[in-house]
Amino acid sequence: MRIIIVNNYEEMSKKAAMMIASQVMLKPDSVLGLATGDTPLGMYKELIQLYSKNEVDFKEVTTFNLDEYYGINRKNPQSYYEYMMANLFNSININRKNIHVPDGMSQDVNAICSDYEEKIKKAGGIDMQVLGIGGNGHIGFNEPDVNFEARTHLVNLDEQTIEANSRFFDSIGDVPVKALSMGIKTIMNSKKIILLANGISKAESIARAINGKISPKVPASILQLHNDVTVILDSEAASGLQI
Ligand code: F6R
Repeated sequence: MRIIIVNNYEEMSKKAAMMIASQVMLKPDSVLGLATGDTPLGMYKELIQLYSKNEVDFKEVTTFNLDEYYGINRKNPQSYYEYMMANLFNSININRKNIHVPDGMSQDVNAICSDYEEKIKKAGGIDMQVLGIGGNGHIGFNEPDVNFEARTHLVNLDEQTIEANSRFFDSIGDVPVKALSMGIKTIMNSKKIILLANGISKAESIARAINGKISPKVPASILQLHNDVTVILDSEAASGLQI
């Protein structure tokens, strides 16, 4: 694991955006795995900036998002599909056909999950996967007591996750309790992984993921076994680390 500690959120976002931009410059038809949530928002802003200065071109890029709420229509402003359109895709020249977010309204869960895996495989696998981390150590929506063998599947969200995500909804009762998520196996098959975390609320899960024992109780701890992970942390998120 390469661990980069920077001063603040802005620096974290800039570094992550530069890593993605370099990936796309070196391989214009890169397959990117993308995350939602607060953490990557600054990185997406930086990527839009780089695109508007003609420093990166997304015309041949393909993307696969980590997850989507189950039971939420993609037109719903709370959907992760809409988040991606609003925060990145509407502002860059990605081909809409190359955008993939699991369909949260699908009735046939098994079919949609295996189709998602098949599409990732057909695209040649994920070249670079961006991850955030939950306060409970989740990556994607792979919650504690995770099955490390799982691929894309339907998950029950942890209470801590529902509470954390209630900030995006009118009330906690409106937060979906299930989601479709890439599994740990899907994530671990990515060629390169960037894990981002900022703020003191992530210090404990980052310390457990990086310094702790590899355990299904801390899903992100499995990243210790991947051979190309870059962790970019602000000083607060890094404050519990022993390095
Ligand atoms: C989002 C995702 C989640 C988030 C994590 C952190 O697609 O898969 O694992 O990365 O919950 O969320 P934020 O960034 O909002 O703290």
